[in-house]
Amino acid sequence: MATKLTARAGANIALVKYWGKRDPVLNLPAAGSLSITLAGLETVTTIELASALEADEFRLDGQLQDAASVGRILDLVGSQDRPRCRVDSRNNFPTGAGLASSASGYAALVVAADALFGTAFDRRELSKIARRGSGSAARSLYGGFCRMHAGRADHGEDCYAEGLFDEDHWPLEVVVAITDSGPKAISSRDGMNRTMATSPYYPAWVKSVDADLAEAGAALARRDFDALADVAESSALKMHASALAARPGLLYWNPATVACIQTIGRLRGQGTGVFFTIDAGPQVKAVCLPGQAEGVAAHLARVPGVTRLIRTGLGPAAGLA
Ligand code: DP6
Repeated sequence: MATKLTARAGANIALVKYWGKRDPVLNLPAAGSLSITLAGLETVTTIELASALEADEFRLDGQLQDAASVGRILDLVGSQDRPRCRVDSRNNFPTGAGLASSASGYAALVVAADALFGTAFDRRELSKIARRGSGSAARSLYGGFCRMHAGRADHGEDCYAEGLFDEDHWPLEVVVAITDSGPKAISSRDGMNRTMATSPYYPAWVKSVDADLAEAGAALARRDFDALADVAESSALKMHASALAARPGLLYWNPATVACIQTIGRLRGQGTGVFFTIDAGPQVKAVCLPGQAEGVAAHLARVPGVTRLIRTGLGPAAGLA
């Protein structure tokens, strides 16, 4: 039996956003979401059984961290009697810069733990465990295009992620425009909690998600880029509108974020296959038709305040490395 295993998982970005919870303890989302998994932004996690340790150890990019939340997820995969573990996790992209490192992190963690503990859960079960760490992490278990189901049951057994199409279905490209590489001001979790508690637009936001999911799913099935672009930009803007209306308001953007949105809008108006999406941070993700990322990147590189660009395609499901 192995005493040490490594798994990898790609980050994902939501085209129909998750923003709000129906149960904070089980971390059940208030509505579903739909995402793409990325090839080039990855977490690689090694878990080693280390019974001699007094407590779990967790390192992120070489730095020792509090191991409590990682330990809770290991308990859910194994059990509370599982051996103590040494966990070493590395991101090939800036942690905490609005690039969803928690999603790929928890996904790689559950895949490695499942193999190491010999629990052999199926993907759906692993997605439920990853969700307990971070809602978006459930989606990084799958490659290509993924759908998260909110479910209705209080126990959350009907809340899981599901693969829709693999990465070959439609090899979209993504350009991430980094406009600020510091850690984000307010985490997604705190931001959505504040939105839920204080934004008058929160109920309207949640109510709108099912229709967006249906529209995005249909656009994906027929590879209709314009339809996907319309619904994805609308979902991102509605999410941010609900957050802006919180008290105090949550403004995740900086001037370069707005300039990127405008550049992408202009390019699309001129016939380029590109749309934007933005998460709980100032980075802009430009989703492009196959073959269009290079031209889009050249334009975004000239936007004042863009400090770095990351170009990537869609990636595979999380798996052992
Ligand atoms: C804006 O998955 O980070 O990126 O479940 O509280 O850990 P928690 O939240 P998290 O939220 C992601 C929010 C988002 C949109 C999305 O990825 O759907």
